[in-house]
Amino acid sequence: MKKILVTLLAVLPLLGACTKKSNEILIGEFGSLTGSDATFGLSTNKGLRMAFDEINAAGGINGKKVKLITVDDQGKNEEAASAVTRLITQDNVVAIIGEVASSRSKAAAPIAQKYQVPMLTHASTNPTVTQVGDYIFRICFIDPFQGFVMAKFANQNLKAKKAAILRDVKSDYSVGLADVFSEEFKKMGGEITADLSFQSGDIDFKAQLTQIRSKNPDVIFIPGYYTEVGLIAQQARQLGIKSPLLGGDGWDSSKLHEIGKEAINGNYYSNHYTTESTDPAVVEFIKKFKEKYNETPDAMAALGYDAAKVLAAAIGRAKEVTPKAIREELAKTADFPAVTGKITINAERNAVKSAVVVQVQGPERKFITTIAP
Ligand code: PHE
Repeated sequence: MKKILVTLLAVLPLLGACTKKSNEILIGEFGSLTGSDATFGLSTNKGLRMAFDEINAAGGINGKKVKLITVDDQGKNEEAASAVTRLITQDNVVAIIGEVASSRSKAAAPIAQKYQVPMLTHASTNPTVTQVGDYIFRICFIDPFQGFVMAKFANQNLKAKKAAILRDVKSDYSVGLADVFSEEFKKMGGEITADLSFQSGDIDFKAQLTQIRSKNPDVIFIPGYYTEVGLIAQQARQLGIKSPLLGGDGWDSSKLHEIGKEAINGNYYSNHYTTESTDPAVVEFIKKFKEKYNETPDAMAALGYDAAKVLAAAIGRAKEVTPKAIREELAKTADFPAVTGKITINAERNAVKSAVVVQVQGPERKFITTIAP
């Protein structure tokens, strides 16, 4: 018996070693592959896989192939935290990409920071996400800018004087973006005539919308995610509210129109890129994505693709493939040519980029304007 045990103990480390090949670079991804924000995680995953497939087909990073390990957090904060713990402590990844939703990135970031493994969020725009620590980075713009963009659009393009806000109090993203919009819109001389709330998961918004209707606002700002926004749009139109609805990047999903139907058409939101771009790099990206997945890439797909390329470039420059060396190189990212615009990571570990405003037209998004920082 003792002998068997000794043999087993001797063999176990070898078995462990077999699961991780030394010529592989392990990168973790956590995202909502299921749940009410599922298109966020699914689109991101498609963008990431496309980028890493390209990198591996071209020989990998300094001769090493990349292996992406993806964990579904089901769109839940607690699951996001345990996904990242697992990726670091069990899978031994050298870097992590995720999440889309700011609340989930915030739930996971302290763990990445504690274990000193770089975490790169491609899409979380709430400013506090990267403030968690020096291992947390992002490649997208932040909400103080996005909120300004939509306030400016309401004020200048739509000539709105009165705005109502309907915010998701369970989402850090929604609360942060609502606050900025309110502040910026007032600075521009506008008035906020109603500022009401809901919680992600709600399905009936008629009480809030009835109150908003009584204020007759020129625009209604709804910084939520597509599932609730689609339902809100339907109920607003059922109640006879005609004001344009405005939102942020959280609207971006192929499901927005499926849920909101006719009611969501004609409304506007800010986003990270436009599929109408004539930039050859963007045109090429969209063409390849369509060939691979038979669908048009949304913003998460583009941001996921960009995040993978930025991270791979940092790993390629790193002296060794360790979380610390990769962190140092991520911080030096400058003028990186990406699908969603040039990426330079600043001292706060954020990217400063332009935003676009698009209009929903069924499954299509009509490009309206670009607003630079
Ligand atoms: N910016 C959103 C957040 O921080 C997430 C998001 C990004 C959603 C891009 C859709 C598209 O929560």
